[in-house]
Amino acid sequence: MKKTLIIVYSNSGKTFAYAQIMADKIQADIERIRPKHNPKSFLKFIYFGYKAAFQKTVELLPLTKKLSDYEHFIIISPIHAGHLSAPIFTFLKENALALKQVDIILVKQDPKDRYEGALVDAKKHMDIEFNLLDSVVLD
Ligand SMILES: Cc1cc2nc3c(=O)[nH]c(=O)nc-3n(C[C@H](O)[C@H](O)[C@H](O)COP(=O)(O)O)c2cc1C
Repeated sequence: MKKTLIIVYSNSGKTFAYAQIMADKIQADIERIRPKHNPKSFLKFIYFGYKAAFQKTVELLPLTKKLSDYEHFIIISPIHAGHLSAPIFTFLKENALALKQVDIILVKQDPKDRYEGALVDAKKHMDIEFNLLDSVVLD
């Protein structure tokens, strides 16, 4: 039976924990996007901040799930420098044809802004209709 796949990138594990709770609630599978290079220290702010701000792609490890087995996708991306995280940006760009319409949840630390602009910017690089479900603050 075709069902929902949650696609998530998480550096610290916080966004992944949020995705797991959602997956349990709605009975969805999860694909955790794993960049080949995934710095954990303060370097992550420089590396991912630069990649996101200039909408650069990063190299990803192979997916574990077959996208054609699913008919609904929920993307969960941390906001990096006001943009989609580079691993999620890359995944979307590489798989745009398989994901014509996607639900998206943006995860951030700053509660003041909803960051819809991140989707407007990303859309310039790929032919995908984004449906913003929510923006969530995780500390
Ligand atoms: C490089 C980088 C840039 C970030 N930029 C923002 C930002 O512009 N606005 C914001 O609210 N949070 C920002 N954050 C915080 C992340 O959105 C926060 O770490 C996320 O909610 C948790 O992600 P994780 O599960 O990948 O650790 C940034 C984090 C990193 C690493």
